Amino acid sequence: DESVLKARISNRCFYFDEIPSTNAFILKHAEDLVSGDICIAEYQSAGRGRRGRVWVSPYGCHLYFSMYWQFPQGMAQAMGLSLVVACSIVSVLQQLDVEGVGVKWPNDIYLNSKKLAGVLIELSGHTDSECNLVIGIGLNMAMGEQHAAKIDQPWSDLTGLECVPDKTELLVLLQRQLQLDLTLFQKSGLKPFQQRWSAADIFEGQPVKLLIGSDEIHGIYRGIDEQGAVVLETASGKQSFIGGEISLRKL
Ligand code: ATP
Ligand code: BTN
Repeated sequence: DESVLKARISNRCFYFDEIPSTNAFILKHAEDLVSGDICIAEYQSAGRGRRGRVWVSPYGCHLYFSMYWQFPQGMAQAMGLSLVVACSIVSVLQQLDVEGVGVKWPNDIYLNSKKLAGVLIELSGHTDSECNLVIGIGLNMAMGEQHAAKIDQPWSDLTGLECVPDKTELLVLLQRQLQLDLTLFQKSGLKPFQQRWSAADIFEGQPVKLLIGSDEIHGIYRGIDEQGAVVLETASGKQSFIGGEISLRKL
């Protein structure tokens, strides 16, 4: 019942057994939402990653959720957001004593060098003075071989840990951490996150390539700059690259 969207006393969590995509739900209802509202589902029939890629989203104990957030000072204030969200996920996993967690610019969380979770930021609307975004997080808890076959790169999940986190606990911790980190980011920008990011960065100092459309740039990976751009040391010195079309790969 969509009329329920109109009445509120605090942040909302919309729960679905099955939905095409939690990001799509938040995008569709953005007008009725406030910062911090969440949509979560057990299964996504059309889970999405960056640039039209698929996020494999089977039933089972996985986390698929999206949060709405408004930046009151426009797009510039949200530059580097996916890095902040990745830092929030790392912090929560560390609070739960998960070891071997790392990040890959700009939106991936790795566990023991394999992809555990991804962040998808989508724009719901903006004016000069306001920017409305959807922050989507997918995290594998227990994948199972029949679904794993659909993932075309090395992946990981939370099985086999000494203490496997409970899904509700994970959601509650993530929701709280995101509220804290997004509020801090809104106030102070990326600076407070630089150290957290570089401590978890899996490519620091390594030879890498950047894929930008059909171009390839090789260099040594030197982390991120103050805008959240990826920094590469090439034959012509240090250069920063930013944009939604860029992918970073190990050489
Ligand atoms: P980049 O962001 O650098 O381009 P990427 O290849 O990981 O890296 P994304 O768009 O971030 O691309 O993520 C989507 C990709 O993640 C899919 O193309 C697939 O390879 C992989 N993937 C899809 N579902 C899952 C999942 N449940 N767990 C782990 N990886 C997945
Ligand atoms: C990526 O690595 O490309 C990002 C994957 C993001 C997946 C999550 S699952 C919840 C939310 N709804 C979606 O359709 N995608 C994001």
